[in-house]
Amino acid sequence: MQASTSPQRVDIDLGERSYPILIGPSLLGDAATFAGLPAASTALIVSNVTVAPLYAKRLQAALQGRFKTIHVLTLPDGEVYKDWATLQLIFDAMLQHGCDRKTVLFALGGGVVGDMTGFAAASYMRGVPFVQVPTTLLAQVDSSVGGKTGINHPLGKNMIGAFYQPLQVVCDLDVLTTLPARELSAGLAEIIKYGPIADMAFLDWIEANLDALLAKEPAALAHAIRRSCEIKASVVAQDERESGLRAILNFGHTFGHAIESGLGYGEWLHGEGVGCGMVMAAQLSQRLGLVDQPFVERLTRLIQRAGLPVRAPLLSPTDNAGRYLALMRVDKKSEAGEIRFVLITEPGKAALRSAPEALVRAVIDGCCA
Ligand code: NAD
Ligand code: GLY
Repeated sequence: MQASTSPQRVDIDLGERSYPILIGPSLLGDAATFAGLPAASTALIVSNVTVAPLYAKRLQAALQGRFKTIHVLTLPDGEVYKDWATLQLIFDAMLQHGCDRKTVLFALGGGVVGDMTGFAAASYMRGVPFVQVPTTLLAQVDSSVGGKTGINHPLGKNMIGAFYQPLQVVCDLDVLTTLPARELSAGLAEIIKYGPIADMAFLDWIEANLDALLAKEPAALAHAIRRSCEIKASVVAQDERESGLRAILNFGHTFGHAIESGLGYGEWLHGEGVGCGMVMAAQLSQRLGLVDQPFVERLTRLIQRAGLPVRAPLLSPTDNAGRYLALMRVDKKSEAGEIRFVLITEPGKAALRSAPEALVRAVIDGCCA
């Protein structure tokens, strides 16, 4: 299996909306990375108070030759700011700077900046081009790829948004050096996800290389990012707007989103919710007779080793399972009020299914005990 840090490219095949995902060191500050972008007079780099001081100047310098004017907008940091008020700051800046239809937006940050900037790009003047420059592991292996953009609503996670593809995705391995350990673990959750839903050989590889990933060894990170992007690109190419197959990418997310919104956005990281949510979804798969106990134990051990929670938080002192169920009904996968879960149908395969409420309650009770 290849484990190289020389620049690699994964293509996402979406007809005229196809684009490359570039993975490698030193991409962010290299003008050549952006050579394929269309000509425009203005660019706007959207970042946040944590990431902009680290990387905005480097990106700005790389873009200098391509755009006459390059503005930088620095947003507040945090999942709690993935909302209308912060989105409005992007529109305010674009109008104040006289951005036109050719203006290129650059999302420089984690999934929060990426999702919001993508949504702003989808809606400003009914659509302007944008580039994803993800700076967290989670964003490099998942959120920057595939064109899901949007914001949270107090009543439900990612409930407002649009499908809108970027022109390219630039995964610079160097930025991961400044990523805190807790955020690295959050990214590992989304990497682990790809194993049980699509590629058990990749799960074997993650198990064998987890220590190298936790130590941020560049070759291990490069391989994990590339394989994750390959799997995601293949799924998205088959079902861009999630009419079926793409839902498998939400393994662990139904329980995870309930935890995130139930505790209040930002209390648990998205990847932490997904990590614990995968344990719960695997347990539900087992209770339905789809997978066996050793499979669930194996996945749980790996998630725990990655530094992620495997026990779920109490969301209500009086009716905890009821609260989970109410939160999970506000999910894009629900139909006519019926919750649908991504379940592992056999190791390496997943499908969207409903489940008897008593079994779901038993999983919640067991995980929160
Ligand atoms: P995040 O964007 O909040 O970033 C995590 C933290 O790391 C932030 O404090 C950020 O400022 C900081 N940070 C980012 N890059 C850094 C760096 N290089 N060095 C130091 N600090 C850095 O969180 P995230 O985990 O990247 O993304 C989570 C979001 O992504 C959630 O809102 C989730 O819903 C969304 N998401 C979207 C998709 C999708 O398909 N669009 C998929 C998965 C997740
Ligand atoms: N992260 C799930 C998806 O992109 O569909």
